Amino acid sequence: ETEVHITDYDFPFEGPFGSFDQMQLQRGLQIYTEVCAACHGLQYVAFRNLHDEGGPGLPEDQVRAYAAQFEVFDEALADGDGDWRPATPNDKFPKSAMAEAPDLSLMAKSRAGFHGPYGTGLNQLFKGMGGPEYITSLLAGYEEAPECAPEDFPGYYNVAFNAGGFPEECIDEEGHHKAPGSWIAMPPPLLGDDVVYADGHPATVVETSKDVTAFLMWTAEPKLEARKQAGFTAVLFLGILAVLLYLTNKRIWYRAK
Ligand code: HEM
Repeated sequence: ETEVHITDYDFPFEGPFGSFDQMQLQRGLQIYTEVCAACHGLQYVAFRNLHDEGGPGLPEDQVRAYAAQFEVFDEALADGDGDWRPATPNDKFPKSAMAEAPDLSLMAKSRAGFHGPYGTGLNQLFKGMGGPEYITSLLAGYEEAPECAPEDFPGYYNVAFNAGGFPEECIDEEGHHKAPGSWIAMPPPLLGDDVVYADGHPATVVETSKDVTAFLMWTAEPKLEARKQAGFTAVLFLGILAVLLYLTNKRIWYRAK
C-alpha cells in the first residue's frame, strides 16, 4: 500500500463532549460556496438544514437568499415540460458540476485517515476514523512533484492521496514507492487567502482547509451533537441504574450473608 502523510489535526467536534463551532461552519460554507462548488456537489444536503441547530445556524432569510443563488430544474413547471427556477430552502444543493469530482455530502465519513498498526485498528480506536484529518491533509497536501517523476506526468502531486496514478520512474526494483502519496486529478483548490472571512479569521491554507473540513463533517453527520448528548444521557442513566441495582441486590440478600 502507498504511504501517505496524514496529520492528526484538532477539531472542536472531536471527543465525547466535542461540538461544532458555528463560526467555523459558516467559514467552511463560504469556502465551499466560493471554491469547491465550482466542481463538487452536495446533493444530499438541503438548503434548509443550514438553519438547523448544531449546524451553521444561518437565519431563515439568509437561507432563502443563499438558496436563491442556485438554479434547480423543476419538472412541474411549464405544464410538465419542466423549467429552471431559483432554488428555495426545500431544495437540495446541486450535484457535482464536474463528472470526475465526487459528491462531498458524505465524504468526511467515507474516507479514513488512520489505519493500523498492522491491521489492529488501534489508531482508529484512539484517534477516530480520521475522515476529517484526511480531508484537511489532502487539501494541504500538495507538493512539488518528486524529481523521479517525468515532467509531463498527468495530475498534481499530493502526499495524502493514495488512489491516483504513480509514475513507474518513482517505483524502485522491489516495487516500493520512492515518494508518499500519488498524483490526483484535482488541482490545488486552496492556495491561502482565497477568501476574505467576515470574522477576521486567518485564511491560510491550513485554516481554510480545516474550516471547509468542519463544514463537510457537518454535512456528513448533521446530528453529531444530538448523538453525543443522547450517548452521554444514556451512560449517565446506566451509571445511576448500576448503583441502584447494586444497593437493591445488597438489600435483598443481606440476611443470606
Ligand atoms: C476529489 C475536496 C475543490 C476537482 C476530491 C476529494 C475531496 C475533495 C475530499 C476526494 C479525494 C478522494 O477520493 O479521496 C475538495 C474541496 C474543495 C475542492 C474541499 C474546495 C476547497 C475542487 C475544485 C475542483 C475539484 C475547485 C475542480 C477544479 C476534483 C476532482 C477530484 C476531486 C477532479 C477527483 C480526483 C481524483 O480522483 O484524482 N476533492 N475539492 N475539487 N476534486 Fe475536489
